[in-house]
Amino acid sequence: MKFAVALAAVASISPAAATIRIQKLEKRELATSPPFYPSPWMDPAAIGWEEAYQKAKDFVSQLTLLEKVNLTTGVGWESEQCVGNIGSIPRLGLRSLCMHDSPAGVRGADYSSVFPSGQTAAATWSRALFYNRGFAMGEEAKGKGVNVLLGPVAGPLGRMPAAGRNWEGFSPDPVLTGVGIAESTKGIQDAGVVACAKHWIGNEQEHFRISSEAQGYGFDISESLSSNIDDKTMHELYMWPFADAVRAGVGSVMCSYQQVNNSYSCQNSKLMNDLLKNELGFQGFIMSDWQAQHTGAAAAAAGLDMSMPGDTVFNSGRSYWGANLTAAVLNGTVPEWRVDDMAMRIMAAIFKVGQTVEQDPINFSFWSQATFGPVHWRAKKGYQQINGHVDVRADHGDLIREIAAKGTVILKNNGALPLKKPKFVVAVGEDAGPNPLGPNGCGDRGCNNGTVALGWGSGTANFPYLVTPDSALQARAIQDRTRYESILSNYATSQIQSLVSLDNVTAIVFVSSDSGESYINVDGNKGDRNNLTLWKNGDDLIKNVSSQCPNTIVVIHSPGPVIVTDWYKNPNITAILWAGFPGQESGNSIVDVLYGSVSPGRTPFSWGANRESYGVDVMYEPNNGKGAPQQDFSEGNFIDYRHFDKANSSLIYEFGYGLSYTSFDYKNIKVEKSNAAAYQPTVGQTSPAPTFGNFSRNPSDYLFPGNASGGAIDPVYLYVYPYLNTTDLQKATTDRNYGQNAAEFLPPNANDGSQQPLLRSSGKSSPGGNAQLYDTLYTVTAEITNTGLVAGDEIPQLYVSLGGPDDPLIVLRGFDRIRIDPGQTVQFKVSLTRRDLSNWDTAIQDWVISSYPKTVYIGRSSRKLELSAALT
Ligand SMILES: *[C@@H]1O[C@H](CO)[C@@H](O)[C@H](O)[C@H]1NC(C)=O
Ligand SMILES: *[C@@H]1O[C@H](CO)[C@@H](O)[C@H](O)[C@H]1NC(C)=O
Ligand SMILES: *[C@@H]1O[C@H](CO)[C@@H](O)[C@H](O)[C@H]1NC(C)=O
Ligand SMILES: *[C@@H]1O[C@H](CO)[C@@H](O)[C@H](O)[C@H]1NC(C)=O
Ligand SMILES: *[C@@H]1O[C@H](CO)[C@@H](O)[C@H](O)[C@H]1NC(C)=O
Ligand SMILES: *[C@@H]1O[C@H](CO)[C@@H](O)[C@H](O)[C@H]1NC(C)=O
Ligand SMILES: *[C@@H]1O[C@H](CO)[C@@H](O)[C@H](O)[C@H]1NC(C)=O
Ligand SMILES: *[C@@H]1O[C@H](CO)[C@@H](O)[C@H](O)[C@H]1NC(C)=O
Ligand SMILES: *[C@@H]1O[C@H](CO)[C@@H](O)[C@H](O)[C@H]1NC(C)=O
Ligand SMILES: *[C@@H]1O[C@H](CO)[C@@H](O)[C@H](O)[C@H]1NC(C)=O
Repeated sequence: MKFAVALAAVASISPAAATIRIQKLEKRELATSPPFYPSPWMDPAAIGWEEAYQKAKDFVSQLTLLEKVNLTTGVGWESEQCVGNIGSIPRLGLRSLCMHDSPAGVRGADYSSVFPSGQTAAATWSRALFYNRGFAMGEEAKGKGVNVLLGPVAGPLGRMPAAGRNWEGFSPDPVLTGVGIAESTKGIQDAGVVACAKHWIGNEQEHFRISSEAQGYGFDISESLSSNIDDKTMHELYMWPFADAVRAGVGSVMCSYQQVNNSYSCQNSKLMNDLLKNELGFQGFIMSDWQAQHTGAAAAAAGLDMSMPGDTVFNSGRSYWGANLTAAVLNGTVPEWRVDDMAMRIMAAIFKVGQTVEQDPINFSFWSQATFGPVHWRAKKGYQQINGHVDVRADHGDLIREIAAKGTVILKNNGALPLKKPKFVVAVGEDAGPNPLGPNGCGDRGCNNGTVALGWGSGTANFPYLVTPDSALQARAIQDRTRYESILSNYATSQIQSLVSLDNVTAIVFVSSDSGESYINVDGNKGDRNNLTLWKNGDDLIKNVSSQCPNTIVVIHSPGPVIVTDWYKNPNITAILWAGFPGQESGNSIVDVLYGSVSPGRTPFSWGANRESYGVDVMYEPNNGKGAPQQDFSEGNFIDYRHFDKANSSLIYEFGYGLSYTSFDYKNIKVEKSNAAAYQPTVGQTSPAPTFGNFSRNPSDYLFPGNASGGAIDPVYLYVYPYLNTTDLQKATTDRNYGQNAAEFLPPNANDGSQQPLLRSSGKSSPGGNAQLYDTLYTVTAEITNTGLVAGDEIPQLYVSLGGPDDPLIVLRGFDRIRIDPGQTVQFKVSLTRRDLSNWDTAIQDWVISSYPKTVYIGRSSRKLELSAALT
């Protein structure tokens, strides 16, 4: 990763001041973010956190200020073994804690697995698989010594299909993503690793997320993109899955690079203090995305708890926190209770997942796979064994294969599938074969060579092996005595045509598109896809094969929808499959689906006829001069299927759609009303902010430990420490703006530690928001019968029409994945909660059930809703 330009320009200015500056520059009314202070402190009674709180209290009460600051501040980019590490507490035996990527595996490690992407997992619609995937990833991270796994992802949610990192998350539907992120969180944390729900929030595209990166690409802007999101859309769409993660007990959240309403996410008090900590009752800690912090004391006041990776810009050796935070507490700018709360939140999350002060060592180095090397990579210091090559994969390959197969979607099947000992199979296309440079031949998977099994960027891991479609199909062919050939090129037109035009050919064409994170540019795609079409001549390849072969099967590996309009109706194309990003077992998984040994999934997003049919798109050119590009989320809730339904846009395959190898019949919908108590808005107050332990106000107690004090530290080059270099605070911080007191640059109440009113929507001690939002109001059931000849998994879906003029036609509210034997009838059951039936009321600031008539629908996709009933 390379970020050329310093981000220090906005140091120490408050969000409000930043907004004023931009407004002056642009003379146009830009969205603003209202202040919310003080930053909420932990609640000792928060459900699920009680024991962790006590343990954290016992530990944090023993800490000195320097030790607390060590917990809050990363030691700097490449300074320890993980992608981010905080300082240690040697006195009490706590080693430096490790924050590490990714939501698909242990990034940069060896002898670990590459899981299917979140989006492919979403296509299974299976709670059990979401959980099992999380648990297995947690086990692998734990085995390497990772303390906090940087995933799962609900931001991007998937507002725009071309956005680069959608595949890391689940689905543009907030309920499917909510279940995905909650079950993943439980899995990861049950395995003993803290999960990190990211990126909070509005991080919907790669272009302009970081102004310095945008300059690397030739865009001359001074501030990051602002996602301007109204309060209703924020609640009903983007926050929804994060609420589920908080309710599931997630231990950490990562604030995002871009701004919301022209205030950086990592210093936006409305986002962190109000929405996340106050309303959702989040008890864990908020860490910054890597270099997403732009200010010191103001970020602390706005709710940031951990600075990652700790330095202002990579390898600057300077930090907005570290010594600056020590000084800010000593000079009274950051209150003691705020730094205590940061330390409490970090340690409570660690204890909550069962970790202890005594930790296993970190067994790998992100920076090198060599056995021996420097622990402090940037400084090239501390040579020792840095890689234990611990094999953490267990039998996860089986699970990976199962998820990828069950997450493959059959979009079309004119009887070609399942394959039954076919006479002659021809696999065509580069996407069936290996990357000539090896499966890890491109750093962070930043290329599209050979079969695409994962996108690119920090959301990746190293393949321990990659089963290509070509190798798996050939192995199966040999077993079945099928003739098998493959042509692993998209451009060998004449060879391909002469082979696939032979008699008895089942041609399987593998095509791809790819996307990732913006620090890598692949074929001109700066993270976000430039188009929704297939890469590498894929459309022509499909046309070449299907013009010659009446049994052409198309398999697509992609980070979301691609445009299939030109060819999907061609009768020679007998089947189309979307195989997402399947991870290391790619070939085995596709064989399982093609040969019918596994039931497929359903698409977790809509397939539009063209790019315009989605209504919203990535912003590729800045629209605000040198100021922050302004991205107005003016479509509100209407993304993906909600937009297609509203605008009647051209659609090819609808959200929730997918074929099966058997058939199902739906009947007998029943609605049962529960007698849940009436909603009681929360009243009351918090306790005052507690402090834990005492600290000296004498700067000389904070000096870099020299020989005089005994415990001398030989400083590591460019390492971030909590110490002061001189007792003159101003000199120690080298802060250009030093001397402003809190009242001058922090909003009123920023440092107020007195009792605070509870929000009516927040509930008492209930992470996820008012517990009554999760009361069941109705139970809806239906019967589903397998009317076909083979067993199969059906994925019934429940949608609700909230009935108001501003509401989407329907919204997903429940689903299941149920195995049904031929002739068997099962019950599909969904509990509808108060939240499921409510809208966010911006005036009273709470969820309210409108008086509009509400209808519930059950069916096999968002457009095939065979059953309906009124909710009375
Ligand atoms: C952004 O501005 C909109 C419009 O004023 C407002 O509804 C919303 O609450 C703001 N959100 C944040 C996080 O500031
Ligand atoms: C802070 O962390 C650093 C790096 O791990 C360590 O060397 C130092 O001793 C710690 N300081 C305190 C006061 O614990
Ligand atoms: C790291 O590996 C060593 C042996 O090489 C083992 O003793 C230790 O427990 C491992 N740590 C973790 C976190 O598994
Ligand atoms: C303190 O923060 C300022 C920016 O606010 C930065 O310029 C300075 O280098 C930091 N000091 C240290 C010691 O890291
Ligand atoms: C692999 O990908 C890179 C980057 O896209 C490209 O430049 C290179 O030609 C490819 N190499 C092979 C052997 O396919
Ligand atoms: C193979 O093709 C020939 C010629 O079209 C045809 O007679 C035969 O039935 C085919 N066999 C199979 C198994 O499809
Ligand atoms: C879409 O982008 C891919 C990847 O850069 C490229 O290969 C393809 O030619 C583009 N499609 C069109 C129609 O320009
Ligand atoms: C289908 O394949 C046959 C060859 O079997 C070819 O003659 C015909 O033109 C193809 N049809 C289309 C629509 O491509
Ligand atoms: C503080 O002292 C350390 C150790 O001598 C040095 O590496 C660092 O650059 C100094 N920091 C500042 C802000 O002067
Ligand atoms: C206190 O220290 C912080 C961190 O260096 C600095 O930003 C702030 O200006 C200082 N405030 C006063 C009143 O000295």
